[in-house]
Amino acid sequence: MKFVILTDTHLVAPGRLLYGLDPAERLRAAVRTINRDHTDIDFVIVTGDLAHWGEVAAYAALKEIFDELVAPTILLMGNHDRRRALRQIFPDADDDGSGYVQAVRHFDAASVLTLDTVDEESRTHAGFLCAHRLAFLDRALAEAPADRPVLLFQHHPPFDTGLPHLDRIRLRNPENLWAVFEKRRRPDYIFMGHVHRPIAGSWRGIPFHIQRATSHQVAFDLASTEIPGSLELPDYSFVRVEPQSIVIHQRPFLYDGPTFWLHDKAAQDAANVSALAH
Ligand SMILES: [Fe+2]
Repeated sequence: MKFVILTDTHLVAPGRLLYGLDPAERLRAAVRTINRDHTDIDFVIVTGDLAHWGEVAAYAALKEIFDELVAPTILLMGNHDRRRALRQIFPDADDDGSGYVQAVRHFDAASVLTLDTVDEESRTHAGFLCAHRLAFLDRALAEAPADRPVLLFQHHPPFDTGLPHLDRIRLRNPENLWAVFEKRRRPDYIFMGHVHRPIAGSWRGIPFHIQRATSHQVAFDLASTEIPGSLELPDYSFVRVEPQSIVIHQRPFLYDGPTFWLHDKAAQDAANVSALAH
């Protein structure tokens, strides 16, 4: 199985910029690259914060861009999103039966489980999993085929990353999530958004992946309590799931500098490798 992860697209209404950049233009560039270079993927999954202010016009702009994507899309909620506005434009968005944007899909290589960690009532942007959502997770893990991995996708990390400004708005109730894992099974990988930084590691033995946004980034800053923004280039991730491995590539899709052969002696000695670009 192969798929691409995008996160934190933060679309705004057409004609607006966000922190001096155009989130739609960046997403269009990602879609163009994915269509060109990943013609055999099963899906593109977007791990939340689809629209910066959660407005209908921003979701409409998002839909127009995703309509160009050849692969099917799976959408998750982030703390900037609003379910009602999302469903106005994406009426087929996942619904677990309680109105939450979450689902489980069983592929031959893995089960793909998405959770809606958004608390629309929260003023802090922190995440929360209520009893309805935990019950869905319980059922989904109980029914997932035992012969293949479970890949869990959710917007909010359930643990501290060491970035104090974002740790304050992580998932508020990680112990409830963990209790379901302990009762049923632990997912084999957790993929998240929210942080706008590339971070990998493990939580209680479960490997995890967090990646850059397609829009603005969060600066590497281990001290500030305010969220520090940055304009580092965005990434998307390309994931290969095989019987013995899960491999994640992060690609800075807006990089427009040279590429060259590492064993090319002329390139090694060049004062300016741009001239040797292939
Ligand atoms: Fe975000």
